[in-house]
Amino acid sequence: MNKKEKKSCGQVVQEWKEFVWNPRTHQFMGRTGSSWALILLFYLVFYGFLTALFSLTMWVLLQTVDPFIPKYQDRLSIPGMMIRPKTEALDITYNLTDTESWDNYVKMLNNFLEAYNDSRQAAMNKVCLPGHYNEQPDNGVLNYPKRACQFNRTVLRDCSGLNDTTYGYQEGRPCILVKMNRVINFYAGANQPMNISCMAKKEEDAQKLGEIVMFPANGNIDLMYFPYYGKKVHVNYTQPVVAVKFLNLTFNYDHHVECKMNAANIVANDERDKFAGRVAFKIRVDKD
Ligand SMILES: *[C@@H]1O[C@H](CO)[C@@H](O)[C@H](O)[C@H]1NC(C)=O
Ligand SMILES: *[C@@H]1O[C@H](CO)[C@@H](O)[C@H](O)[C@H]1NC(C)=O
Ligand SMILES: *[C@@H]1O[C@H](CO)[C@@H](O)[C@H](O)[C@H]1NC(C)=O
Ligand SMILES: *[C@@H]1O[C@H](CO)[C@@H](O)[C@H](O)[C@H]1NC(C)=O
Ligand SMILES: *[C@@H]1O[C@H](CO)[C@@H](O)[C@H](O)[C@H]1NC(C)=O
Ligand SMILES: *[C@@H]1O[C@H](CO)[C@@H](O)[C@H](O)[C@H]1NC(C)=O
Ligand SMILES: *[C@@H]1O[C@H](CO)[C@@H](O)[C@H](O)[C@H]1NC(C)=O
Repeated sequence: MNKKEKKSCGQVVQEWKEFVWNPRTHQFMGRTGSSWALILLFYLVFYGFLTALFSLTMWVLLQTVDPFIPKYQDRLSIPGMMIRPKTEALDITYNLTDTESWDNYVKMLNNFLEAYNDSRQAAMNKVCLPGHYNEQPDNGVLNYPKRACQFNRTVLRDCSGLNDTTYGYQEGRPCILVKMNRVINFYAGANQPMNISCMAKKEEDAQKLGEIVMFPANGNIDLMYFPYYGKKVHVNYTQPVVAVKFLNLTFNYDHHVECKMNAANIVANDERDKFAGRVAFKIRVDKD
Protein backbone atom coordinates (compact mmCIF):
# COMPACT_ATOMS: atom_id res chain seq x y z
CA MET A 1 0.00 0.00 0.00
CA ASN A 2 2.67 2.36 1.13
CA LYS A 3 4.93 1.33 -1.72
CA LYS A 4 2.21 1.85 -4.26
CA GLU A 5 1.58 5.35 -2.98
CA LYS A 6 5.25 6.22 -3.17
CA LYS A 7 5.38 4.98 -6.72
CA SER A 8 2.40 6.99 -7.79
CA CYS A 9 3.93 10.01 -6.13
CA GLY A 10 7.08 9.60 -8.19
CA GLN A 11 4.90 9.16 -11.22
CA VAL A 12 3.20 12.46 -10.58
CA VAL A 13 6.58 14.19 -10.35
CA GLN A 14 7.61 12.54 -13.58
CA GLU A 15 4.39 13.64 -15.30
CA TRP A 16 4.94 17.16 -14.09
CA LYS A 17 8.45 17.25 -15.42
CA GLU A 18 7.20 15.98 -18.73
CA PHE A 19 4.46 18.55 -18.76
CA VAL A 20 6.91 21.37 -18.23
CA TRP A 21 9.36 20.07 -20.81
CA ASN A 22 8.63 17.08 -22.95
CA PRO A 23 11.86 16.15 -24.75
CA ARG A 24 10.08 13.69 -27.06
CA THR A 25 7.50 16.05 -28.51
CA HIS A 26 9.54 19.19 -27.78
CA GLN A 27 6.57 20.64 -25.94
CA PHE A 28 6.92 23.26 -23.24
CA MET A 29 3.98 23.40 -20.84
CA GLY A 30 1.97 21.28 -23.20
CA ARG A 31 2.61 23.43 -26.26
CA THR A 32 5.13 23.44 -29.06
CA GLY A 33 7.30 26.44 -29.79
CA SER A 34 5.24 27.51 -32.75
CA SER A 35 2.06 27.24 -30.70
CA TRP A 36 3.58 29.53 -28.06
CA ALA A 37 4.76 31.91 -30.75
CA LEU A 38 1.22 32.12 -32.13
CA ILE A 39 -0.17 32.91 -28.69
CA LEU A 40 2.48 35.55 -28.18
CA LEU A 41 1.69 37.05 -31.56
CA PHE A 42 -2.00 37.07 -30.75
CA TYR A 43 -1.49 39.01 -27.52
CA LEU A 44 0.95 41.35 -29.20
CA VAL A 45 -1.63 42.21 -31.84
CA PHE A 46 -4.41 42.32 -29.24
CA TYR A 47 -2.63 44.75 -26.90
CA GLY A 48 -1.31 46.72 -29.82
CA PHE A 49 -4.89 47.19 -30.92
CA LEU A 50 -5.97 48.25 -27.41
CA THR A 51 -3.12 50.76 -27.21
CA ALA A 52 -4.04 52.19 -30.59
CA LEU A 53 -7.68 52.48 -29.58
CA PHE A 54 -6.78 54.19 -26.32
CA SER A 55 -4.43 56.61 -28.05
CA LEU A 56 -7.05 57.44 -30.64
CA THR A 57 -9.68 58.13 -27.99
CA MET A 58 -7.23 60.28 -26.05
CA TRP A 59 -6.27 62.19 -29.17
CA VAL A 60 -9.92 62.87 -30.07
CA LEU A 61 -10.56 64.02 -26.52
CA LEU A 62 -7.57 66.34 -26.52
CA GLN A 63 -8.78 67.95 -29.74
CA THR A 64 -11.74 69.31 -27.76
CA VAL A 65 -9.52 70.91 -25.12
CA ASP A 66 -8.29 74.46 -25.54
CA PRO A 67 -4.71 74.56 -24.27
CA PHE A 68 -5.08 78.17 -23.13
CA ILE A 69 -8.32 77.84 -21.21
CA PRO A 70 -8.19 74.76 -19.00
CA LYS A 71 -11.65 73.25 -18.99
CA TYR A 72 -12.02 72.81 -15.28
CA GLN A 73 -9.99 75.75 -14.06
CA ASP A 74 -12.89 77.79 -12.69
CA ARG A 75 -14.13 74.88 -10.63
CA LEU A 76 -10.83 74.83 -8.83
CA SER A 77 -10.13 78.48 -8.47
CA ILE A 78 -13.32 80.25 -7.46
CA PRO A 79 -13.12 80.28 -3.72
CA GLY A 80 -16.37 79.85 -1.86
CA MET A 81 -17.40 82.40 0.73
CA MET A 82 -18.91 81.90 4.14
CA ILE A 83 -20.07 83.98 7.06
CA ARG A 84 -19.64 83.86 10.81
CA PRO A 85 -21.72 83.32 12.82
CA LYS A 86 -22.75 80.46 10.58
CA THR A 87 -26.19 78.96 10.98
CA GLU A 88 -27.79 76.15 9.04
CA ALA A 89 -29.75 78.41 6.69
CA LEU A 90 -27.41 81.41 6.93
CA ASP A 91 -30.16 83.15 8.81
CA ILE A 92 -29.11 85.53 11.57
CA THR A 93 -32.31 86.34 13.38
CA TYR A 94 -32.63 87.52 16.93
CA ASN A 95 -34.71 89.50 19.36
CA LEU A 96 -33.04 92.51 20.90
CA THR A 97 -34.67 92.13 24.30
CA ASP A 98 -34.06 88.40 24.47
CA THR A 99 -30.39 88.00 25.41
CA GLU A 100 -30.47 84.27 24.82
CA SER A 101 -31.47 84.75 21.20
CA TRP A 102 -28.15 86.37 20.30
CA ASP A 103 -25.88 85.00 22.97
CA ASN A 104 -24.98 82.06 20.74
CA TYR A 105 -23.93 84.29 17.87
CA VAL A 106 -21.54 86.13 20.15
CA LYS A 107 -20.09 82.84 21.35
CA MET A 108 -19.53 81.68 17.78
CA LEU A 109 -17.72 84.91 16.96
CA ASN A 110 -15.61 84.64 20.09
CA ASN A 111 -14.59 81.12 19.15
CA PHE A 112 -13.80 82.02 15.60
CA LEU A 113 -11.73 85.06 16.50
CA GLU A 114 -9.63 83.46 19.22
CA ALA A 115 -7.00 82.47 16.69
CA TYR A 116 -6.80 86.11 15.63
CA ASN A 117 -5.89 87.49 19.06
CA ASP A 118 -2.99 89.87 18.55
CA SER A 119 -0.87 87.99 21.05
CA ARG A 120 -1.44 84.71 19.25
CA GLN A 121 -0.80 86.22 15.86
CA ALA A 122 2.43 87.72 17.12
CA ALA A 123 3.51 84.32 18.47
CA MET A 124 2.57 82.32 15.39
CA ASN A 125 2.91 84.52 12.37
CA LYS A 126 5.18 87.08 10.84
CA VAL A 127 4.65 90.69 9.86
CA CYS A 128 4.40 90.83 6.09
CA LEU A 129 4.73 93.51 3.49
CA PRO A 130 1.20 94.65 2.58
CA GLY A 131 0.20 94.58 -1.07
CA HIS A 132 2.49 91.71 -2.01
CA TYR A 133 1.96 88.00 -2.25
CA ASN A 134 3.63 86.00 0.49
CA GLU A 135 5.30 83.62 -1.90
CA GLN A 136 7.48 80.95 -0.39
CA PRO A 137 9.05 78.61 -2.89
CA ASP A 138 10.26 75.24 -1.69
CA ASN A 139 13.81 75.99 -2.88
CA GLY A 140 14.49 72.33 -3.31
CA VAL A 141 13.35 71.31 0.16
CA LEU A 142 10.14 69.38 -0.30
CA ASN A 143 7.23 70.54 1.89
CA TYR A 144 9.34 73.13 3.63
CA PRO A 145 7.15 74.74 6.35
CA LYS A 146 5.61 78.05 5.30
CA ARG A 147 5.14 81.06 7.51
CA ALA A 148 1.82 82.85 7.56
CA CYS A 149 1.14 86.56 7.80
CA GLN A 150 -0.35 88.21 10.86
CA PHE A 151 -4.00 89.15 10.78
CA ASN A 152 -4.59 90.94 14.04
CA ARG A 153 -7.96 90.86 15.70
CA THR A 154 -7.75 94.59 16.44
CA VAL A 155 -7.89 95.27 12.70
CA LEU A 156 -11.60 94.44 12.96
CA ARG A 157 -12.03 97.36 15.37
CA ASP A 158 -15.73 97.72 16.32
CA CYS A 159 -16.27 94.14 15.18
CA SER A 160 -13.27 92.70 17.02
CA GLY A 161 -15.33 91.94 20.11
CA LEU A 162 -12.62 93.57 22.20
CA ASN A 163 -14.17 96.86 23.24
CA ASP A 164 -17.71 95.89 22.41
CA THR A 165 -17.91 92.33 23.69
CA THR A 166 -21.30 91.70 22.07
CA TYR A 167 -20.19 92.71 18.58
CA GLY A 168 -23.04 95.20 18.44
CA TYR A 169 -25.73 92.57 18.84
CA GLN A 170 -26.96 94.06 22.07
CA GLU A 171 -27.65 97.44 20.54
CA GLY A 172 -29.07 96.17 17.25
CA ARG A 173 -25.97 97.01 15.21
CA PRO A 174 -24.67 93.51 14.62
CA CYS A 175 -21.41 92.49 13.00
CA ILE A 176 -21.08 89.65 10.52
CA LEU A 177 -17.73 88.26 9.48
CA VAL A 178 -17.19 87.30 5.88
CA LYS A 179 -14.42 84.95 4.89
CA MET A 180 -13.17 83.36 1.76
CA ASN A 181 -12.62 79.63 1.82
CA ARG A 182 -9.08 78.45 1.43
CA VAL A 183 -7.92 77.45 -2.02
CA ILE A 184 -4.45 75.97 -2.21
CA ASN A 185 -1.96 77.79 -4.44
CA PHE A 186 -4.49 80.38 -5.52
CA TYR A 187 -3.22 83.87 -6.20
CA ALA A 188 -6.40 85.75 -5.34
CA GLY A 189 -6.69 89.16 -6.93
CA ALA A 190 -4.20 88.52 -9.74
CA ASN A 191 -1.78 91.00 -8.19
CA GLN A 192 -4.36 93.79 -7.94
CA PRO A 193 -6.17 95.16 -4.89
CA MET A 194 -9.37 93.36 -4.01
CA ASN A 195 -12.19 93.82 -1.58
CA ILE A 196 -15.44 92.39 -0.35
CA SER A 197 -18.58 94.47 -0.67
CA CYS A 198 -21.97 93.83 0.84
CA MET A 199 -25.35 95.19 -0.17
CA ALA A 200 -29.04 94.49 -0.07
CA LYS A 201 -29.89 91.77 -2.55
CA LYS A 202 -32.70 93.90 -3.94
CA GLU A 203 -31.77 97.45 -4.68
CA GLU A 204 -35.05 98.82 -3.34
CA ASP A 205 -34.19 97.36 0.07
CA ALA A 206 -30.97 99.30 0.39
CA GLN A 207 -32.69 102.11 2.25
CA LYS A 208 -34.11 99.72 4.84
CA LEU A 209 -30.80 97.98 5.29
CA GLY A 210 -29.24 101.28 6.26
CA GLU A 211 -25.64 102.22 6.51
CA ILE A 212 -22.96 99.56 6.49
CA VAL A 213 -19.38 99.87 7.62
CA MET A 214 -16.60 97.45 6.80
CA PHE A 215 -13.46 96.49 8.73
CA PRO A 216 -10.76 96.70 7.51
CA ALA A 217 -11.72 99.84 5.60
CA ASN A 218 -13.44 99.24 2.26
CA GLY A 219 -13.56 95.54 2.97
CA ASN A 220 -10.04 95.23 1.66
CA ILE A 221 -8.30 91.89 1.57
CA ASP A 222 -4.57 92.09 1.32
CA LEU A 223 -2.57 90.08 -1.17
CA MET A 224 -0.14 89.04 1.54
CA TYR A 225 -2.54 86.35 2.75
CA PHE A 226 -2.04 84.47 -0.51
CA PRO A 227 -1.16 81.98 -1.70
CA TYR A 228 -2.20 79.39 0.83
CA TYR A 229 0.00 76.32 0.66
CA GLY A 230 -2.21 73.79 2.43
CA LYS A 231 -2.79 72.59 5.94
CA LYS A 232 0.30 70.42 6.10
CA VAL A 233 2.96 73.00 5.31
CA HIS A 234 1.11 76.20 6.20
CA VAL A 235 0.23 75.19 9.73
CA ASN A 236 -0.38 78.57 11.36
CA TYR A 237 -2.26 80.09 8.45
CA THR A 238 -5.16 82.29 9.49
CA GLN A 239 -7.27 83.39 6.60
CA PRO A 240 -8.13 87.03 6.14
CA VAL A 241 -11.63 88.09 7.16
CA VAL A 242 -13.74 91.15 6.61
CA ALA A 243 -16.29 92.38 9.13
CA VAL A 244 -19.57 94.02 8.15
CA LYS A 245 -21.36 96.12 10.69
CA PHE A 246 -24.97 97.12 10.13
CA LEU A 247 -25.34 100.54 11.69
CA ASN A 248 -28.99 101.33 11.09
CA LEU A 249 -30.97 98.19 10.32
CA THR A 250 -34.71 98.52 10.09
CA PHE A 251 -36.06 96.33 12.90
CA ASN A 252 -38.59 93.56 12.42
CA TYR A 253 -37.71 93.14 8.79
CA ASP A 254 -36.06 90.33 6.81
CA HIS A 255 -32.98 91.80 5.21
CA HIS A 256 -31.46 89.76 2.43
CA VAL A 257 -27.84 90.68 2.05
CA GLU A 258 -25.26 89.59 -0.46
CA CYS A 259 -21.53 89.95 0.01
CA LYS A 260 -19.28 89.40 -2.90
CA MET A 261 -15.67 89.38 -3.77
CA ASN A 262 -14.37 92.08 -6.09
CA ALA A 263 -11.22 90.61 -7.48
CA ALA A 264 -9.80 90.43 -10.96
CA ASN A 265 -9.68 86.65 -11.03
CA ILE A 266 -12.79 85.72 -9.06
CA VAL A 267 -16.12 85.49 -10.83
CA ALA A 268 -18.97 86.22 -8.46
CA ASN A 269 -21.97 85.60 -10.67
CA ASP A 270 -21.81 81.89 -11.38
CA GLU A 271 -25.46 80.84 -11.68
CA ARG A 272 -24.69 77.23 -10.81
CA ASP A 273 -22.74 77.92 -7.65
CA LYS A 274 -24.17 80.56 -5.38
CA PHE A 275 -21.28 80.32 -2.97
CA ALA A 276 -18.65 80.98 -5.59
CA GLY A 277 -17.10 84.34 -4.85
CA ARG A 278 -20.17 85.46 -2.94
CA VAL A 279 -22.45 84.61 -0.07
CA ALA A 280 -26.03 85.60 0.65
CA PHE A 281 -27.61 85.59 4.06
CA LYS A 282 -30.61 86.87 5.94
CA ILE A 283 -30.44 89.16 8.91
CA ARG A 284 -33.35 90.22 11.06
CA VAL A 285 -33.46 92.00 14.36
CA ASP A 286 -36.72 91.97 16.24
CA LYS A 287 -37.59 94.78 18.58
CA ASP A 288 -40.82 95.61 20.34
C1 LIG B 1 -8.28 86.13 22.98
O1 LIG B 1 -8.65 87.42 23.44
C2 LIG B 1 -9.87 87.44 24.15
C3 LIG B 1 -10.21 88.90 24.45
O2 LIG B 1 -9.10 89.59 24.95
C4 LIG B 1 -9.72 86.61 25.41
O3 LIG B 1 -10.94 86.61 26.12
C5 LIG B 1 -9.36 85.18 25.01
O4 LIG B 1 -9.13 84.41 26.16
C6 LIG B 1 -8.13 85.17 24.14
N1 LIG B 1 -7.95 83.83 23.66
C7 LIG B 1 -6.75 83.30 23.47
C8 LIG B 1 -6.72 81.88 23.00
O5 LIG B 1 -5.72 83.90 23.68
C1 LIG C 1 -0.29 92.54 15.65
O1 LIG C 1 -0.25 92.77 17.03
C2 LIG C 1 1.01 92.54 17.60
C3 LIG C 1 0.86 92.68 19.10
O2 LIG C 1 0.22 93.88 19.43
C4 LIG C 1 2.01 93.53 17.03
O3 LIG C 1 3.27 93.32 17.60
C5 LIG C 1 2.07 93.35 15.53
O4 LIG C 1 2.91 94.30 14.94
C6 LIG C 1 0.70 93.47 14.92
N1 LIG C 1 0.78 93.04 13.55
C7 LIG C 1 0.39 93.82 12.54
C8 LIG C 1 0.55 93.24 11.18
O5 LIG C 1 -0.09 94.91 12.70
C1 LIG D 1 3.50 78.16 14.33
O1 LIG D 1 3.23 78.74 15.56
C2 LIG D 1 4.04 78.27 16.62
C3 LIG D 1 3.61 78.98 17.89
O2 LIG D 1 2.25 78.72 18.15
C4 LIG D 1 5.50 78.55 16.32
O3 LIG D 1 6.32 78.01 17.33
C5 LIG D 1 5.87 77.91 15.00
O4 LIG D 1 7.20 78.26 14.66
C6 LIG D 1 4.94 78.40 13.92
N1 LIG D 1 5.23 77.68 12.70
C7 LIG D 1 5.42 78.30 11.54
C8 LIG D 1 5.78 77.43 10.38
O5 LIG D 1 5.30 79.50 11.39
C1 LIG E 1 -10.91 100.18 22.15
O1 LIG E 1 -11.12 101.41 22.77
C2 LIG E 1 -9.91 102.14 22.99
C3 LIG E 1 -10.28 103.37 23.79
O2 LIG E 1 -11.42 103.99 23.28
C4 LIG E 1 -9.27 102.49 21.66
O3 LIG E 1 -8.07 103.19 21.88
C5 LIG E 1 -8.96 101.20 20.91
O4 LIG E 1 -8.46 101.49 19.63
C6 LIG E 1 -10.23 100.37 20.79
N1 LIG E 1 -9.86 99.09 20.24
C7 LIG E 1 -10.46 98.58 19.17
C8 LIG E 1 -9.98 97.24 18.72
O5 LIG E 1 -11.38 99.11 18.58
C1 LIG F 1 -13.42 97.28 -4.47
O1 LIG F 1 -12.85 96.59 -5.56
C2 LIG F 1 -13.40 96.98 -6.81
C3 LIG F 1 -12.81 96.08 -7.85
O2 LIG F 1 -11.48 95.83 -7.64
C4 LIG F 1 -13.11 98.45 -7.08
O3 LIG F 1 -13.68 98.83 -8.29
C5 LIG F 1 -13.72 99.24 -5.95
O4 LIG F 1 -13.36 100.60 -6.10
C6 LIG F 1 -13.23 98.76 -4.61
N1 LIG F 1 -14.01 99.45 -3.61
C7 LIG F 1 -13.43 100.04 -2.60
C8 LIG F 1 -14.36 100.70 -1.66
O5 LIG F 1 -12.24 100.04 -2.43
C1 LIG G 1 -31.60 105.21 9.97
O1 LIG G 1 -32.61 104.81 9.04
C2 LIG G 1 -33.81 105.56 9.08
C3 LIG G 1 -34.79 104.99 8.10
O2 LIG G 1 -34.53 103.67 7.78
C4 LIG G 1 -33.51 107.01 8.75
O3 LIG G 1 -34.69 107.77 8.87
C5 LIG G 1 -32.44 107.55 9.68
O4 LIG G 1 -32.07 108.85 9.31
C6 LIG G 1 -31.22 106.66 9.67
N1 LIG G 1 -30.27 107.12 10.67
C7 LIG G 1 -29.00 107.33 10.39
C8 LIG G 1 -28.16 107.81 11.52
O5 LIG G 1 -28.55 107.16 9.27
C1 LIG H 1 -38.79 89.61 22.00
O1 LIG H 1 -38.59 89.00 23.27
C2 LIG H 1 -39.41 89.53 24.27
C3 LIG H 1 -38.98 88.92 25.57
O2 LIG H 1 -38.78 87.55 25.43
C4 LIG H 1 -40.85 89.23 23.91
O3 LIG H 1 -41.71 89.77 24.91
C5 LIG H 1 -41.19 89.86 22.57
O4 LIG H 1 -42.51 89.51 22.19
C6 LIG H 1 -40.21 89.42 21.53
N1 LIG H 1 -40.43 90.22 20.35
C7 LIG H 1 -40.58 89.70 19.14
C8 LIG H 1 -40.81 90.66 18.03
O5 LIG H 1 -40.51 88.50 18.94
